[in-house]
Amino acid sequence: MMILKQKKYGFFDMIAISFKTSPFYSLIFAAKYIADALIPVASIFITADFINSAMAVYSKQTGISSIYMPVALLAAIMAYNAAIGTIMNFAECRRNIYFRKRLVPEIIEKQAKLEYRHIENPETADLIERVCPKFPESIWEMYSQVLHAVNLAISIMGILAALFLQVWWVAVGMAISLLPILSIASKAGRRSYDIDRAEAELGRRMKYLSEVMKSREAAGERSLYGYTGDLSLKYGEKFDSIRKFKLKVESKNFIRWKMGGLVSSVYSIIIMFAMLVPVSMGDIDLGMFIGLMNGVFGLISSNIVSWGIYGTIRDLAKRREYQKDLTQFVRLEEREGATDIPAKNMAFGKIEFKNVSFKYPGTDKLILDDISFAIEKGGHYSFVGKNGAGKTTIIKLLTGLYSNYGGEILVDGRSLRDFAQSEIKGLSSVVYQDFAKYHISLYDNIAIAGIGDDALGVQSVKNAVELAGLSGAVKNLKHGLNTPLGKIQEGGADLSGGEWQRVAMARSVASNAPLKILDEPTAALDPISESAVYKNFESISKRRTTIFISHRLGSTKLADIIYVLSEGKIVERGPHSRLMALEGGIYAEMFDSQANWYKAGGEGGFDV
Ligand SMILES: Nc1ncnc2c1ncn2[C@@H]1O[C@H](COP(=O)(O)OP(=O)(O)O)[C@@H](O)[C@H]1O
Ligand SMILES: [Mg+2]
Repeated sequence: MMILKQKKYGFFDMIAISFKTSPFYSLIFAAKYIADALIPVASIFITADFINSAMAVYSKQTGISSIYMPVALLAAIMAYNAAIGTIMNFAECRRNIYFRKRLVPEIIEKQAKLEYRHIENPETADLIERVCPKFPESIWEMYSQVLHAVNLAISIMGILAALFLQVWWVAVGMAISLLPILSIASKAGRRSYDIDRAEAELGRRMKYLSEVMKSREAAGERSLYGYTGDLSLKYGEKFDSIRKFKLKVESKNFIRWKMGGLVSSVYSIIIMFAMLVPVSMGDIDLGMFIGLMNGVFGLISSNIVSWGIYGTIRDLAKRREYQKDLTQFVRLEEREGATDIPAKNMAFGKIEFKNVSFKYPGTDKLILDDISFAIEKGGHYSFVGKNGAGKTTIIKLLTGLYSNYGGEILVDGRSLRDFAQSEIKGLSSVVYQDFAKYHISLYDNIAIAGIGDDALGVQSVKNAVELAGLSGAVKNLKHGLNTPLGKIQEGGADLSGGEWQRVAMARSVASNAPLKILDEPTAALDPISESAVYKNFESISKRRTTIFISHRLGSTKLADIIYVLSEGKIVERGPHSRLMALEGGIYAEMFDSQANWYKAGGEGGFDV
């Protein structure tokens, strides 16, 4: 049963989700909060009963037995207060486990199903980052805050009701005395909510920054440019300024609610004095008077009225932001079949782009402008063009990440739009420029290419390792293929950049997809090594169809057909020799200017 639905989220939903996630513990906590609110009210009556009985016993009007009941009840309340903390600590641990177990997979699934454009778009990416990591805890905190508010309302109403039953005008006077503090609290609550928002925004940037300052990827540049001190200083200043602002507002709030609290206290003391009138007239007995005094002073001194209302309103207001985010998040479109595993045994004879045009959602620039080309089975193709020419974009369309393009992409005459996601996934495997490095075992790093594919056994993984040129590296690893990679696990081995690249390629080799695409995974290498890698991949993917993408041309000589992209169009097409022969051709010019690289450093390298 899915818990997350496309709807507008409010506090009632937080209650509903909590109960769906863990009915038992939601109920336990609700009971606890309600009991906590009712106990002070009950204490009024029990105290009154106790004092009256004690006096009656003292004056020998009744026997000792009449005091047993109130004493037993007072003892029960004390026992409850003594035990409840421990019980709730235990309940909280269990509750936490249930929430994680139930809600984390829920949010991960929704995240995995999202349309790809939401992941690329900075705004929605930020939204996802705000909603997902905190999901289980946020739900619980919001539910707790609702319980807290209910607890507060019952506490206050309960005492007022008890008063009202005895001397109604005292209760009405008390209620009026609460009004100023209520209004101060709600205003202060909203103000501090605004600050928290600003602070959270900055906090997100600080978090990113601290990642930059800690991460391994940025380590090189960090020491080279020595920007750490400067960056942290700048953000520190900003953080300080918002801190100071917060302090100012919070201290103003503090003074306001203290003043409000003072007014309420003074007012209620006056009221208690007023109550001496009905006492002296015998309208209420002494026991009840003391019980009520206890209750009212307990309420005021515990800060429930002033601090409790202020804090609760503030916390509830803050949560509305998360609810808005959650509402927006669940409404993000999903891609049907996004989490499906690739179909096995996909095959094709010819893939055609027919007059394909494309703009990224929310932008105006035509990245692909009416382009047409074909990829035929068994062929080797190259896409070349400057950075930003649209090479990767073509791959994103081909792999179904975007479908809002004009024109048609046909696979053996059938529109790619009619393909199930699993089919599209089964069609091609891509090694991206920013290929993933999974901190799991080397074996699993490769085997995940064939999830659900029984044919992909140990032998295929070993073949892929062999073909990708990783055999040497495997021999050096402590536990061979089963060595965990990366630094997350103890005893994990780190690989060099080039070795990680080979792992990514082994993954692609192991995959059953008939079309193999390399999208500049070698950009970090020098041109000669890059050519070597492409050549290597070419030889291991014999009989498969390949697309190599690069803005460097060493590898393109291997291709049957080279497509040259510029300004969203394919401006030249053909094999290397023909493109080189074109008068004033872009390809020939690019090639000539790059050829120097190979000549200069190319001893034994790639022959140009
Ligand atoms: N998610 C995106 N939203 C908007 N513009 C994008 C997005 N991704 C890429 N672009 C733009 O599209 C153009 C082509 O990008 P890309 O296909 O990655 O080029 P390359 O040929 O270097 O692979 C670039 O100008 C890039 O800025
Ligand atoms: Mg690219």
